[in-house]
Amino acid sequence: MTNFDLLPDRRKNIMFTKWTAYPQDVLPMWVADMDFSAPKPILVTLQKQIEHGVLGYEMPAQTLKETVAARMDALYAWKVKPEAVVAVTGIVSGFSVAARAFASPKKGIAIQTPVYNEFHEVKNNLGIPQIDIPLTKKINDNILSYEIDWDVFEKQVKQAGIFLLCNPHNPLGIIFNKAELMRMAEICIRHKTLIVSDEIHSELLLGGNKFTPIAKLSREIEKHVITLIAPSKTFNIPGLFCGFAIIPNKALRERYEAEVNKLRLHVSSLGLHAANTAFSGKCDLWLRDLKKYLTDNRDFLTGYVTEHMPAVRLTIPDATYLVWLDFTQTDIHGSPYEFFLKNAKVAVSEGKIFGKAGAGHIRLNFGTSRALLKRGLDRLNKALHSI
Ligand SMILES: Cc1ncc(COP(=O)(O)O)c(C=O)c1O
Repeated sequence: MTNFDLLPDRRKNIMFTKWTAYPQDVLPMWVADMDFSAPKPILVTLQKQIEHGVLGYEMPAQTLKETVAARMDALYAWKVKPEAVVAVTGIVSGFSVAARAFASPKKGIAIQTPVYNEFHEVKNNLGIPQIDIPLTKKINDNILSYEIDWDVFEKQVKQAGIFLLCNPHNPLGIIFNKAELMRMAEICIRHKTLIVSDEIHSELLLGGNKFTPIAKLSREIEKHVITLIAPSKTFNIPGLFCGFAIIPNKALRERYEAEVNKLRLHVSSLGLHAANTAFSGKCDLWLRDLKKYLTDNRDFLTGYVTEHMPAVRLTIPDATYLVWLDFTQTDIHGSPYEFFLKNAKVAVSEGKIFGKAGAGHIRLNFGTSRALLKRGLDRLNKALHSI
């Protein structure tokens, strides 16, 4: 069994974003990668590639596409043909390509806010309108949850070329259920809005939760969906930049691939090999242990905040290693991100980057050892109580 309490020293690599962006005395709990080593089978695969000595150009092989298709079958009984799988240089480039191909200045991109900051960058990068579909915040004691307002959903989605779904949702940790996904799909199809589903966190399920890809709901729905998946979050290899767009609809796929080719988006060979091993099933025991560790981290964190910082509200994520904390009822005036950076020496993610409703909130990454998580929470708690 993997010991997730033991962490490699990440400050040794001067290019690690998470650990070098802030001064040495700051504990980084921001960007979404974990502090754990990747699973052994992936490291062995990469070592073999290095030992061979030649790192030439490589193309996504048919066997890799078969591995991806087989994983969808094994996880969800979703039968996709290997030719439906298109390799992409990550999920942000994957949805940016979709936006280039299928959105326009007249038909923008609809997103459920607060949501992953890169979703908000598409409008700036591509000059297409962003259409916000705010999720409705619910409060029960100190626990936050978010719901879809279906009237707002339909009103906004019908103006869009693309509905960019984040499922499981970053930063809220929601796994949308089948009934919700079905209703989203029906509305999008009725208004001819393409669904692009970012499912990068789909294998990071906490506490026995289950996940269904929206495209798996029916063969009809599948024709209107581009599904984006990657091994990067699950197996902690985001720096290798390899993901996949699954596009069963041939016409959509051809348009998508044409855009990928126009931009010359070639995936690195090490990324392709790592993805093949990640999705082969060889890392599944590691993943089972990881999910247990992350679930325990989530529960520890929820208990800690409830006991020591009762004025702080938080989500209980069903997936991801990210939690959303609301400080609007505390004595912090202004940005809690800035407050904690200065007074607690902890770097979290600023809530406002996820949308306007994120003011007064932060996102915290608990994909680390329990000891570091506790150290971070102790620092936040001390700073909060020093006001
Ligand atoms: C929802 C979501 N999509 C995409 C990404 C990044 O994907 P990539 O690094 O493959 O571009 C992240 C990273 O945090 C994410 O949370």
